[in-house]
Amino acid sequence: MTSPVHISEHAGAVLIEIDHPPVNALSASVRTALADTLARLAAAPGVTSAVLACRGASFVAGADITEFDAPPVMPLTGDLCAALEASPFPVVAAIHGTALGGGFELALACHGRVIARDAQVGLPEVRLGLIPGGGGTQRLPRLIGPVAALEMIASGRMVPAAEAASLGLVDAVATDVLKGARTLALALAGARRWRKLGSQNPAPSDPAAWDDARRRWTQRARGQAAPVAAVAAVGWSVMVPFCEGLARERRASLAMRVSPQSRALRALFRAERQATKVPHVASGVRRSRDIADAGVVGGGLMGTGIAVALAAAGVRVTLVEVSQPAAQAASERVQRLTHRPGARSHADIDVVSDLVALRSKDLVIEAVTEDLSVKLRVLAEAASIVSTDTLIATNTSYLPLESLASAVSVPERFLGLHFFSPAHVMRLVEVVRGPQTDATAISKGIALARRLGKHPVVCRSSEGFIGNRLLMRWRLPCDYALEEGARPEDVDAALEGYGFAMGPFAVADLAGLDIGYATRRRLREAGVRLPRHAPLADWLCEDGRLGQKTGRGWYKYDEARKHTDPEIDAYLARASEARGITRAPINPESLVARVLAVIANEASALLQEQVAMRPSDIDVVLVHGYGFPTWRGGPLHAVDQFGLPPFLSLMEELAARPDWGWEVAPLFRHLAERNRTFHSLASEDVPRG
Ligand code: COA
Repeated sequence: MTSPVHISEHAGAVLIEIDHPPVNALSASVRTALADTLARLAAAPGVTSAVLACRGASFVAGADITEFDAPPVMPLTGDLCAALEASPFPVVAAIHGTALGGGFELALACHGRVIARDAQVGLPEVRLGLIPGGGGTQRLPRLIGPVAALEMIASGRMVPAAEAASLGLVDAVATDVLKGARTLALALAGARRWRKLGSQNPAPSDPAAWDDARRRWTQRARGQAAPVAAVAAVGWSVMVPFCEGLARERRASLAMRVSPQSRALRALFRAERQATKVPHVASGVRRSRDIADAGVVGGGLMGTGIAVALAAAGVRVTLVEVSQPAAQAASERVQRLTHRPGARSHADIDVVSDLVALRSKDLVIEAVTEDLSVKLRVLAEAASIVSTDTLIATNTSYLPLESLASAVSVPERFLGLHFFSPAHVMRLVEVVRGPQTDATAISKGIALARRLGKHPVVCRSSEGFIGNRLLMRWRLPCDYALEEGARPEDVDAALEGYGFAMGPFAVADLAGLDIGYATRRRLREAGVRLPRHAPLADWLCEDGRLGQKTGRGWYKYDEARKHTDPEIDAYLARASEARGITRAPINPESLVARVLAVIANEASALLQEQVAMRPSDIDVVLVHGYGFPTWRGGPLHAVDQFGLPPFLSLMEELAARPDWGWEVAPLFRHLAERNRTFHSLASEDVPRG
């Protein structure tokens, strides 16, 4: 077997290259080969300088995540870093692509770093429920100070080359990174002096700024263990000697590998990548750039958000509105979104008032108001203008594609691309198969979403697809809890305490209560059979309490600041009275359990109906579209960890209540009665409904 590490002579310096596709992760084979190479070079006479680089698309993207479920195998990344730092000759890292996690730790252990202009570095371990374990928490503060180091480690963010240079993370930015690194390595060797971060004292910091940073990152963690552990680890860099700091970091990092939070985040990482793989859909085009020119019809909040997301990924965009004044308003909306630091310029988006501008587009996304007849008209007009190769997508959030496909002339090229608001920020896109959508259209939809930096999840068309259909169901136990005795702020606090970004009533106020109101009316008129609806939200809408936009909804607002509203009491009392309920508080744990049981039950129906392809896709949808806590891995991962039987008992209890009118999904019962998990489910096991 060929070694994943190669050495060659590079104009006076030794070039050490790692070659381990796809992302040069530090698998055991790479660690062993690199340790051997470093030991051999250290003993070899005549080596005076070296460059550490990678073949392929990227520098080392970190530890091999697939190894984390097994016990660690020596040598560890920290051992490689120690060997690099102790090398008798200077080694300079030549960074292209991404140097992440253990990759960036190797670079920190080198004696210099040169980065390509379009490369990025980062320590994203917290995003996997970990802290860096190869010395990153001890060397980085010695390079840029503990405050800046903590910001990088606790956020896990990627730092682009220019910022890396200004922060002092790298010595130089270069167009030819190998040449730049070699020049630096030769210069260090010539000067006979090179810097070893491990031998340095930590860079000084203002004690008040450090206290403030520690407090801020601890508060922000909101239930997540890794950022809090990062605060402690960076603290060691200023409190204890380097060796002791390294030993503590390694112990903490290895212990976190087996923590439930890290397991959950790793499961989510796998789920996100799995979601891009669809049977019978070519994966080679996952990142293709064949959509160069796109049109978006509808310049409301959603349409402008989509246009901005497309433009940010380098797609030329034409945004079409119905009239000149509407186009002007859309243009102003785009300007507001793009006039933010780092945003792409407004000039990348043309705003027009004539659909003819769609003629030569590769893709047209309809994002007009959620009204079947309006959507049908717009789709038919767009289809009559574009070529037969153009992909036509609807951004509907509820309407089944069966009811829209008749409007387009080539239904094979018609699909749903369901973005979430604000579309330039939210990372989920449901890629929806219509009745005749072909594999090419799905594959292009996936590729586009990935190019926008979003997580695509492919699903079959159904009322509300995956996310909104689940939302419609799991909102109900929250509404029922208000009738039983909870206040909106109790329910929000229970779910936020579980880790949701925002509780459902705060979200409803933000989105506007009228949206749900209109959807419920439409569903009722369409004869869709739903569990009992609690009328409270309708009463609020009928009294003009539409949420933040009217200053009152479930809460009251002054300048977007939320307050509990005593006026809600009368509505709550009326709702309880209407159901003959004596109000009594509900404990937060049982409310969360009800929500999870309802999600698990409806998810089973989605799997059985083949609307969702796999349980992990449902986890990706709820995490990236609905604020479900990442570190719980998604609702089905969470239910699996707990075991299904208690949730089945709870679901049966809820289903037996005459005023709930729920049914236990056959697949949920099937799994729970056999004490199986969702994620043990192979598609062939799913009893089809
Ligand atoms: N270990 C093992 N496999 C990894 C990996 C890692 N650290 N990072 C990425 N991969 C795999 C992915 O699973 C994927 O495999 P697949 O093609 O079989 O699905 C492949 O590499 C490409 O990754 P993908 O994320 O699809 O490509 P991308 O170009 O969008 O992103 C990265 C590349 C490196 C930015 C991204 O994969 C990433 O952030 N990886 C994790 C980095 C990290 O957290 N490192 C610290 C680990 S402690």
